[in-house]
Amino acid sequence: MYRFLLILLSVVGMATATEAQQRQDMSKGKSNSKILVAYFSATGTTARAAEKLANATGGELYAITPAKSYTSADLDWNDKQSRSSVEMNDPKSRPAIKSKKENISDYDVIFIGYPIWWNLAPRIINTFIEDHDLKGKTVIPFATSGGSTLAGSATALKKAYPALNWKEGRLFNRTDEKTIRAWIEKSGF
Ligand SMILES: Cc1cc2nc3c(=O)[nH]c(=O)nc-3n(C[C@H](O)[C@H](O)[C@H](O)COP(=O)(O)O)c2cc1C
Repeated sequence: MYRFLLILLSVVGMATATEAQQRQDMSKGKSNSKILVAYFSATGTTARAAEKLANATGGELYAITPAKSYTSADLDWNDKQSRSSVEMNDPKSRPAIKSKKENISDYDVIFIGYPIWWNLAPRIINTFIEDHDLKGKTVIPFATSGGSTLAGSATALKKAYPALNWKEGRLFNRTDEKTIRAWIEKSGF
């Protein structure tokens, strides 16, 4: 009877250990690397895509929050004087971020998400990249848009920060979690 109990206990113990290991593997991604899903979203679409990506990768979500949030007037692309128009017309514009991400050095893989603005990443993405030391990390852009592809913004980011280890990213317009998961597995992040 004792023997039986001992065996039972060790089997239960092993199962629990395996589950714990699996959870740990998930949070570290497939390649055992620690993943951050950093994103800026003005109206929520990219935030929803980032959540799915974080679920698919087991990565940690981090919202790149502007020190001063964007009003709908700020986002009016028909108004040349709106905040977004002024920022996007000035390649040197660097809108401030509310606070820096702590312990960025802990992460090996950083996904950077944003809405496409004028075929580019919003300038606050440049602020995020320049405010944090991303050297040596794998950096992967992702975006949502009204129809533009990711290419223009990804090329511009690679050109602005050639020292970073960029990997090909993806546009997540109406992309479900299953599709994101398949992409992650194929890419091996
Ligand atoms: C100022 C501004 C400029 C935009 N420029 C583009 C563009 O060039 N191409 C495009 O397809 N969509 C463009 N959009 C649409 C956004 O990329 C799209 O609605 C996005 O999903 C919004 O994401 P968010 O809800 O996370 O802010 C623009 C939106 C704004 C506010």
